[in-house]
Amino acid sequence: MPYRSRPTILLAAVAAGALLACGGDTPATGKNATAVAPGPDTGAVSRPLAVGNVAGGTVGNAAGAAAFTRCVVCHQADGGGLPNVFPPLAGSEWVNGSADRVLAAVMHGVTGPITVKGTAFNSAMMPYGTGVPMTDQELADVVTYVRASWGNRGSAVTPADVERVRRATASRTTPYTATELQAMP
Ligand code: HEC
Repeated sequence: MPYRSRPTILLAAVAAGALLACGGDTPATGKNATAVAPGPDTGAVSRPLAVGNVAGGTVGNAAGAAAFTRCVVCHQADGGGLPNVFPPLAGSEWVNGSADRVLAAVMHGVTGPITVKGTAFNSAMMPYGTGVPMTDQELADVVTYVRASWGNRGSAVTPADVERVRRATASRTTPYTATELQAMP
């Protein structure tokens, strides 16, 4: 398959610039942000941990690491995000919670107030996997990667999981709010 991440990085960089540039319209710290935190991952107990999970390190998921080049401009190589602008993936209760919720967020985007590790963000993330075409395999790889990196302990995700969530959310045309994500199983 052709290596497509370069144009995507450019696209993401433009989007990041746009987000930063329009900070006046969308306050990153969100005065109106309501605390929204996810519930427990009810599926986690019966699922295996993501492959190669090591505390604070990268994993044996080279494809996931490659796909993460789409995300790195905002969420950063150490998964720490950027204070007040891009939320962290490292230690995020969303990333470590329900896998379906993470898939839905990445596939359709996220908008509005969201609390991650006790900090409120209020911005928007574009849809990957619908707006930015990503295959089921790529989505499975990247979500598995972020759920297994930087000390995260989320279960692995398969292309079959992606396909199931794609079908369940097929009618969705706008990014999810944190409240909607929270209501998902
Ligand atoms: C252009 C910047 C940008 C890129 C690129 C990006 N995100 Fe995000 N992401 C955000 C923002 C901003 C939010 C918070 C949205 C809000 O405030 O509602 C977010 C939220 C999230 C969340 C939920 C909150 C959290 O921190 O746990 C996850 C999970 C996530 N992104 C994963 C990804 C993955 C995986 C990729 C790559 C496929 C990616 N993001 C690419 C900006 C980005």
